[in-house]
Amino acid sequence: MTETRDARGRLLRDLRISVTDRCNMRCSYCMPREHFPAGFRFLPRGEILRHEEIARVAGLMVGLGVKKLRLTGGEPLLRADLPKLVEQLAALPGVELALTTNGVLLPRYAAALRQAGLARVTVSLDALDPEVFRRMTDSTFAPSDVLAGIDAARAAGLAPVKVNCVVRRGVNEREVLGLARRFRGTGCVVRFIEYMDVGETNGWRLDEVVTGREIVDTISRELPLEPVPSQYDGEVAKRWRYADGGGEIGVITSVTRPFCGACSRARLSARGVLYTCLFAEAGVDLRGPLRAGASDDELTRTLIETWRARDDRYSELRSAGLVRGERIEMSYIGG
Ligand code: GTP
Ligand code: 5AD
Ligand code: SF4
Ligand code: SF4
Repeated sequence: MTETRDARGRLLRDLRISVTDRCNMRCSYCMPREHFPAGFRFLPRGEILRHEEIARVAGLMVGLGVKKLRLTGGEPLLRADLPKLVEQLAALPGVELALTTNGVLLPRYAAALRQAGLARVTVSLDALDPEVFRRMTDSTFAPSDVLAGIDAARAAGLAPVKVNCVVRRGVNEREVLGLARRFRGTGCVVRFIEYMDVGETNGWRLDEVVTGREIVDTISRELPLEPVPSQYDGEVAKRWRYADGGGEIGVITSVTRPFCGACSRARLSARGVLYTCLFAEAGVDLRGPLRAGASDDELTRTLIETWRARDDRYSELRSAGLVRGERIEMSYIGG
């Protein structure tokens, strides 16, 4: 089996693929409306990788050891014919294929995605209270639209569904317990995410981060939790289970307890740039060579060289107070 390791000895195991930079929400922490207003010029279609181009890169990455593909955006369900892409990716040998979405279009697409070979979905839901949800997502959708999406995913067999909740102090931290209660015993795992300093537009401040520790304590006071040992190296979420057997939650502590040490994730942006860190300032363009007729060998060489040179560990450096220049936006790189 092929293994590809970076400069720090970390394996290449995951590829996160952003299929569009568009979204039908304007979450304050991701695409604040001041920076992404009506009429914002998203990437023109010709600049975005075609299905075949994405599938080709993914296939070559699988040849280098990638086991997990995750489709992201923006909002991936806005990409035309997404089930067709899913079908091409699901045909790759030995990969697990998942999707991260805001959920509101799942009632329309869940069955087709499942049919095409998608295994699982992760759905973002930051609040159950409609007013708090509106403040977080700055959209006309309601929590009930997302809950309908989660139900559609489960009904289609896209299980287990994970639910992602980004927590911002002063905005939705009071939603934490309600979300935990809502999904306890349902088989859906809620993961609470520390608000991260991704991109340059969200005006991130450290004092808005609610730490994973605080989140676990808040829940545990009402519904006692115990830690679950991590299943594999580089697992993003720290897992906790309800002491009485009501299932699990997770916390994603990129700010207070970075997990760069075993990070195995490469990212392909919608326009075809390969990034080796969520917080990268620059990446390697693959669209140019793809469209200039590069051979599989040539592309593979570029992929290997890029991964081998990889030295990123942004979250660790942030914790150590050593951070640098301009970061790519979340909606281009897909989280
Ligand atoms: P699972 O396979 O279901 O565990 O997915 P995941 O947790 O890898 O993916 P998801 O898209 O649900 O991301 C959850 C959160 O973790 C999001 O806020 C991501 O931005 C964040 N995240 C995922 N991978 C990384 C990473 O490599 N570094 C950092 N700092 N954050 C990450
Ligand atoms: N900090 C933490 N998580 C974020 N996401 C988007 N922006 C941020 C941020 N600044 C989350 C989304 C989605 C996942 C892909 O990333 O809510 O669940
Ligand atoms: Fe859209 Fe997801 Fe970003 Fe919210 S977090 S703006 S739903 S891509
Ligand atoms: Fe990986 Fe970069 Fe996230 Fe660290 S900050 S876990 S290196 S993507």
